[in-house]
Amino acid sequence: MVAVCPGSFDPVTYGHLDVIARARDLFGQVVVAVGRNSAKNSLFALEERVRLVESATAGWDGVRVAPLEGLLADFCARVGAGVVVKGLRFGSDFDYELQMAHINSAIGHIETVLLPAGPRWGTLSSTMVREVARNGGDVSGFVPPEAAERVRMVQAKEES
Ligand code: PNS
Repeated sequence: MVAVCPGSFDPVTYGHLDVIARARDLFGQVVVAVGRNSAKNSLFALEERVRLVESATAGWDGVRVAPLEGLLADFCARVGAGVVVKGLRFGSDFDYELQMAHINSAIGHIETVLLPAGPRWGTLSSTMVREVARNGGDVSGFVPPEAAERVRMVQAKEES
């Protein structure tokens, strides 16, 4: 069965990778859909966010990555997926994800499975990673090496 793990991945974190790996273990195949959240301004362009997820999941059996343009429900139809998997950290995630799950069910008959975030990554977010980096902190414990390097470079450029 094919599952889709959608998100903005700005940048991909170890929390995202934990959910992707667990979704693959549950469903066999995962397509990671890297999209734009219209409520957020992205640090990285879509192409770069796709590339960073690809690099972090290189060699993972049953996992591939694609840009998400347009509706998630249409993306799921194109890749033959009937289920979306997302991670849940706290109550505010639930409120948002429930709304998305209902919309995706109504427009595309897509089921949504919400996985509790792994305990190590229970409160980690890309927003926090960007904030730590913006203030000169080390993000290597939160994101894979290539993403950490790119966050450092972007921050250094912004400061110069
Ligand atoms: O990591 P995020 O910010 O939770 O990711 C949100 C994303 C990109 C998965 C979501 O905005 C999305 O599904 N966008 C595609 C457009 C869509 O189908 N929206 C829901 C119906 S209005």
